[in-house]
Amino acid sequence: MFSFQNDAASKPDLYAQIIEAADAITADEPDAIANMANLSALIFAALPDLNWAGFYRNVGGELVLGPFQGKAACIRIPFGKGVCGAAAASREIQLVEDVNAFPGHIACDSASRSELVVPIVHDGELLGVLDLDSPLPARFDREDAEGCALLIQKVTDRLASR
Ligand code: SME
Repeated sequence: MFSFQNDAASKPDLYAQIIEAADAITADEPDAIANMANLSALIFAALPDLNWAGFYRNVGGELVLGPFQGKAACIRIPFGKGVCGAAAASREIQLVEDVNAFPGHIACDSASRSELVVPIVHDGELLGVLDLDSPLPARFDREDAEGCALLIQKVTDRLASR
C-alpha cells in the first residue's frame, strides 16, 4: 500500500516530496500505462484544488486519453487544439490562468477554471502530455510549472513503452 503525507513547508518542498514518491512508485515498473495510472493517482491526491489530473498519449500524431483521475474526459485531441494540443504541438509547458480566455480550450469538465499542461519528450519523441485542471482561477504558478516539469523529467523514461 502506498500513502502520501503532505507535510511540506512550501510549494517547492511539496514538489520535492511528490517527486520522491513518484520515483519510488515507478522505479521498478517497466509498464508505461501502469506508471501513468499511479502517477495520476499520486498527483491528484497530493496537489490541492485539482478536479482532473492525468495523461494524454501521443498515438500516431494524435493525443489519446490515458490514465487519469477526475471526471470522464475527451478521448482524442488533435495536436494544436486546446491547451493539451498546444503543449503537444509546441512542446512547451502551457500555464493557463483562465481557460475561458484560451482560444480553442476544450471544456471536458465545465468546473475547470485554470490548467497546467506539461509535454513529455523522450529521446526527441513526444510521448504525450501531463494535464492538470483546477476549479480555481489561476491555481497554477511558475512553481507549479517548474515542479511538474521536474517531476516529468524524473520519470520520463518510465513513461515510454519498453
Ligand atoms: N481542457 C483540455 C482538454 C483536456 S481536459 O481538460 C481533461 C484542453 O483544452 O486541452
